[in-house]
Amino acid sequence: MAEYITHEHDVVIIGAGGAGLRAAVEASAAGARVAVITKSLLGKAHTVMAEGGVAAAMGNVDDRDSWRVHFADTMRGGQYLNNWRMAELHAKEAPDRVRELEAWGALFDRTSDGRILQRNFGGHRYPRLAHVGDRTGLEMIRTLQDHGIHLGLDVFMEYTIVKLLTHGDRIAGAFGYDRERGRFHLFRGKAVVLATGGIGRAYKITSNSWEYSGDGHALAYHAGASLVDMEFVQFHPTGMIWPPSVRGILVTEGVRGEGGVLRNRNNERFMFKDIPPLYVNQTADSEEEGWRYTQGDKNARRPPELLTRDHVARCIRTEVREGRGSPHGGVFLDIAWTKEKLPNAAEHIKKKLPSMYHQFKQLADIDITQEPMEVGPTTHYMMGGVRVNADSQMSEVPGLFAAGECAAGLHGANRLGGNSLSDLLVFGQRAGEYAAGFAKENSLGAIDTQELASAEKWALRAFEHNGSENPYGVQHKLQDTMQDLVGIVRQEQEMQQALERIRELRTASDAVGVDGNREYNSGWHTALDLYNLLTVSEIVTRAALERKESRGAHFRDDFPAKDDQAGKFNIVARKGPNGEVQLTREPIPPMREDLQRTIEEMK
Ligand code: FUM
Repeated sequence: MAEYITHEHDVVIIGAGGAGLRAAVEASAAGARVAVITKSLLGKAHTVMAEGGVAAAMGNVDDRDSWRVHFADTMRGGQYLNNWRMAELHAKEAPDRVRELEAWGALFDRTSDGRILQRNFGGHRYPRLAHVGDRTGLEMIRTLQDHGIHLGLDVFMEYTIVKLLTHGDRIAGAFGYDRERGRFHLFRGKAVVLATGGIGRAYKITSNSWEYSGDGHALAYHAGASLVDMEFVQFHPTGMIWPPSVRGILVTEGVRGEGGVLRNRNNERFMFKDIPPLYVNQTADSEEEGWRYTQGDKNARRPPELLTRDHVARCIRTEVREGRGSPHGGVFLDIAWTKEKLPNAAEHIKKKLPSMYHQFKQLADIDITQEPMEVGPTTHYMMGGVRVNADSQMSEVPGLFAAGECAAGLHGANRLGGNSLSDLLVFGQRAGEYAAGFAKENSLGAIDTQELASAEKWALRAFEHNGSENPYGVQHKLQDTMQDLVGIVRQEQEMQQALERIRELRTASDAVGVDGNREYNSGWHTALDLYNLLTVSEIVTRAALERKESRGAHFRDDFPAKDDQAGKFNIVARKGPNGEVQLTREPIPPMREDLQRTIEEMK
């Protein structure tokens, strides 16, 4: 018999970043009894790494903006693999979600006439990112937390879920442990919302902190849900690269939105060298025009540094590979140069980018108002995730919902910066609403105590091994494998090699042993995370092998061009009857005609 503590709620939300909190607020306001479970401390979420702003077509800075332009930008950024209904809902609802956040106390930067200020970002046609300096995600989390806490949520901090429980084909709850004491807990829920964020810890260089081990992706997959678009991992072009201890920490795209430029060791603006055909007409053809764009000139076109992230990351990689990189293997990001243009540039930079100023000063002893930063790509975001219904966010498992980064659809092959914060607001709200609705119409599902006993036994198995494999060692090998063989540029042979290594690491992870007891045992926690990391790494690799073309964030050296046929399907992963990964190519449903017309008009 398993020993555990039981909790009962209408809606159980796993994850307390922006999507989880927004879902919790909505479900609670609809009268549901809500549990929010977080692996970490409340407020510590990858949401805060979306620093530069939340994308919403409010038209405060440029009144040519509208939901239609935002929709078309998002679809083009996603290379038309997006779930177009999600892209439509997102573009239409984002402005209301931002205004609502303001009403709940979020303090956005203002235009001179008092409206919410919006800034330029990669791939967005007009200045669209509502922001709070370069701390937008942090302010959003603070606001949602303050608002949610007054609604009486039950928050379980430092708890990890190891298994979702089903009754028949529907969800019945979740089983996990508290990290402090190592006791097991059963969370019974009429509906469960996954909002666990991404998979960044599968890679060596990442902006994600330790929590992001693909938990929601793996939990859903093992519970019978489908994962879609898993080949699309976003490498943000600008992470810190020096000193080594801070490698991967995000350097917001807001730096480029405010006029920062990329240069190689020869002082060349290398981004001017290679403009993708899709964007030629929208890209500045001189440095002067690019500068005017960042200063709000409506007749100017965007500088090439504000092309989509996939493209910018690949261009940086090329500079480094071809020997034109910076001393520590990146390139230079320069905002200090704006002192040639602005009388009070240093003060302006500190005001607009306060976190970047302090981050570089404290961590790298660089004053970004005076000298350039060294930056390079960092694994930042997962476009792929749980396949959900666009309107309700329910997965194929009745009662199991997903929102934010662990759900897929909105971003297709590549996400535009700022669309993550609006994604989690729009679809967090929807997931909360529909989960509460589901909970009203359904009772609690039955729990199979045998299943709990075997989940407990499985979770404790590392204590029984004699320590022949070390959990951190296995995790590091996996991170090296994904970084080196399934990274920004991929090819068949390397990915086959990655699959082989993942197979070996899976065997190693089954033999991992840990010492000590169950209280705050980080070796044990890491051993359990390995299961999810290996699950998602295998699926990413298999999906990347299956997509034999280059599109968005997925670039293959052996298939460098886009393939029209491949642009018509998503790759969907399901768990097969023998535990194997089954992949299918599923056609993208034809887009509604009015939306098709919108895209044509925007071209
Ligand atoms: O660069 C950034 O501030 C990141 C934003 C995002 O990922 O949406």
